[in-house]
Amino acid sequence: MAKRSTPRSVLITGASSGIGRALALEYGKRGAHVVVTARREPELVSLCEEIRGAGGRADHLVCDVADPVAAHAVAKRGEEILGSLDMIVANAGVGASSHASRLSLEDVVRTIDVNVRGAMATLMGAIPIMLGQKHGHLVGVSSLAGRRALPGSADYSASKAALTVFLEGLRLDLSRAGIDVTDVQPGFVETPMTSKNDFPMPFIWDAAKAATYVADGLERAPAMVAFPPPLRFLTRLAQLLPFSVHAFATRRAARRSTKRNG
Ligand SMILES: NC(=O)c1ccc[n+]([C@@H]2O[C@H](COP(=O)([O-])OP(=O)(O)OC[C@H]3O[C@@H](n4cnc5c(N)ncnc54)[C@H](OP(=O)(O)O)[C@@H]3O)[C@@H](O)[C@H]2O)c1
Repeated sequence: MAKRSTPRSVLITGASSGIGRALALEYGKRGAHVVVTARREPELVSLCEEIRGAGGRADHLVCDVADPVAAHAVAKRGEEILGSLDMIVANAGVGASSHASRLSLEDVVRTIDVNVRGAMATLMGAIPIMLGQKHGHLVGVSSLAGRRALPGSADYSASKAALTVFLEGLRLDLSRAGIDVTDVQPGFVETPMTSKNDFPMPFIWDAAKAATYVADGLERAPAMVAFPPPLRFLTRLAQLLPFSVHAFATRRAARRSTKRNG
């Protein structure tokens, strides 16, 4: 795959913390003008100051992607600031581990509103802009957890699987129009989202390492950037297993971690 140039104009949702924040810092360092969005404005303001302090260009927009109209409009608002839109990263997401017997309707609706409807609306808002430019890169942050459900992750895994298939469909429809589409599938990354987890998180990366890996990977605009490599391999293997084997292996791992954590 040929290496593309670094995008000059990038919009990232969910940039007030974690992976989105680290990716904004990374693109700032790489010379892109970055528009960062999320709900918490003070965090966005201090991120922009940090990017500018390091010599980069950054602006912020407040946007709640659980409102599909707002999510759909954010690409246009970003393009007005940036002057073009080389890349949009639908990264905003929520997730908490919850056993099926304790799932609340409110939490499941929120997961779907943010991770599925919000991400889809964000990316859809960028499509006409990129078609008009005749170039652009649509990026969605799903998860390795979307490849196969894990105990306590029914709604989260389902939301990420939906986003993965949506991105694949966009790639099928848009690649001939000069628009790249990439599905970023992280394994465990140290962020506020995972800081609540009380189970083992094998091969966990820090957010800066993840952001560098993602930005390097996106340069070739592949269908997928999945990491870390050992978990990418194991989750691919899990996709080939019959349900009974997958269930045995994951329940055993869950029991072991429960024992270890008391
Ligand atoms: N960390 C991991 O191990 C991991 C693994 C696989 C995939 N992921 C995915 O990576 C993405 C980033 O997660 P993270 O780990 O960096 O989590 P995080 O630190 O909790 O960040 C989540 C980001 O999403 C934003 N967000 C949440 N709800 C929003 C809403 N309604 N509207 C707009 N923004 C919203 C948050 O900003 P505000 O609260 O300011 O709105 C925050 O900036 C998520 O899609 C997550 O599912 C993470």
